[in-house]
Amino acid sequence: MANDQLISVCGAGGFIGGALVANLRSEGYTRIRAVDQKPLDQWYQRFDDVENLVLDLQGKEACEKAVKDAHTVYNLAADMGGMGFIENNKALCMLSVLINTHLCMAAKDAGVERFFYASSACVYNGDKQKEFQVPALKEEDAYPALPEDGYGWEKLFSERMCRHFREDFGLKTRVARYHNVYGPYGTWDGGREKAPAAVCRKVALAKINNRPEIDIWGTGEQTRSFMYITDCVYGTQMLTNSDYVEPINIGSAEMVSINQLVDIVEEIAGVKLHRTYQLDAPKGVAGRSSDNTLIQQVFNWEPSTRLRDGMEMTYAWIYDEIVKGNKSL
Ligand code: NAD
Ligand code: GDD
Repeated sequence: MANDQLISVCGAGGFIGGALVANLRSEGYTRIRAVDQKPLDQWYQRFDDVENLVLDLQGKEACEKAVKDAHTVYNLAADMGGMGFIENNKALCMLSVLINTHLCMAAKDAGVERFFYASSACVYNGDKQKEFQVPALKEEDAYPALPEDGYGWEKLFSERMCRHFREDFGLKTRVARYHNVYGPYGTWDGGREKAPAAVCRKVALAKINNRPEIDIWGTGEQTRSFMYITDCVYGTQMLTNSDYVEPINIGSAEMVSINQLVDIVEEIAGVKLHRTYQLDAPKGVAGRSSDNTLIQQVFNWEPSTRLRDGMEMTYAWIYDEIVKGNKSL
């Protein structure tokens, strides 16, 4: 059904923003504004029937252009990546505070109806993530605060910025804490890729080059839960359009070790590889997954795509990208 509310997606040249624009189009939204700082030819998904703007959203004037006349603003713009990026670029990660701060200010002044902010599981207290096998993280585990250095502090601060804009100025902010999101049209090489895409790339290259070896960061016993992109987009829109105002987990509850993730991709690819463990590589927390009690209570929903199914689609896409030579490797 057609919907003529103007929706502004910030970070639309990236993974989740691109998938959100694609979904809004398929749902019949006729006025979509897609904003990113990257040149248009570098956007992961680009649609010529929406308004595409190249803007650096760290600046306030750019944010004013991005949100002008918008009914809803989704802030998915951030300088981020997997552990390989965030462990070595803490100042760059923290500078994303300018994006959310200026977007909140501009949205308030423009009378935006709803404002979504993409926070992260990296806000959770590190002491609760010190073992490989730890209880899943509940929303209350963000305090007392001991988030991931750099990136996690920026996310926690920006969550609170959203809260205070809501309480003091009436801007209807909604905050999701995403747990590691994967799927087609995401970053899969270059240093910002996360474990699911990195493992797909490494296994695909081992297969293509007939070199049955893989290197894995850490001991492979680290645990995570990985959310498929369609679940992420569904949950994001559901939360944004709801009356629920507190930060909430949007993540999968299916916890696996990195070794189990590699098992899955080997099985999909039909290969068995010799594993080398890089113990000095960036590792992040030892264990992390999403407790979905709250999202089940509030929305009677949680991300449900099985990891095996999502990885099958992701592996096929990355394999094709390599074969098509879309990145030099
Ligand atoms: P992504 O890197 O693919 O997309 C982010 C986009 O933001 C990029 O296209 C980038 O060019 C753009 N951007 C960065 N700085 C900008 C600026 N100054 N002005 C305009 N655009 C700018 O990342 P993603 O995976 O799509 O993540 C989207 C959001 O979700 C981010 O806030 C991220 O921190 C958050 N998040 C993602 C995950 C995940 O696993 N993907 C997990 C937790 C939180
Ligand atoms: N990236 C990557 N590449 N990670 C690997 C690799 C590899 O080749 N091999 C093993 N790993 C291990 C890492 O050492 C880490 O222990 C685990 O896989 C997960 O790494 P990432 O996927 O890079 O990040 P993360 O789960 O620690 O954190 C990510 O998710 C957060 C949300 O849950 C990051 O992308 C954060 O930015 C994000 O907010």
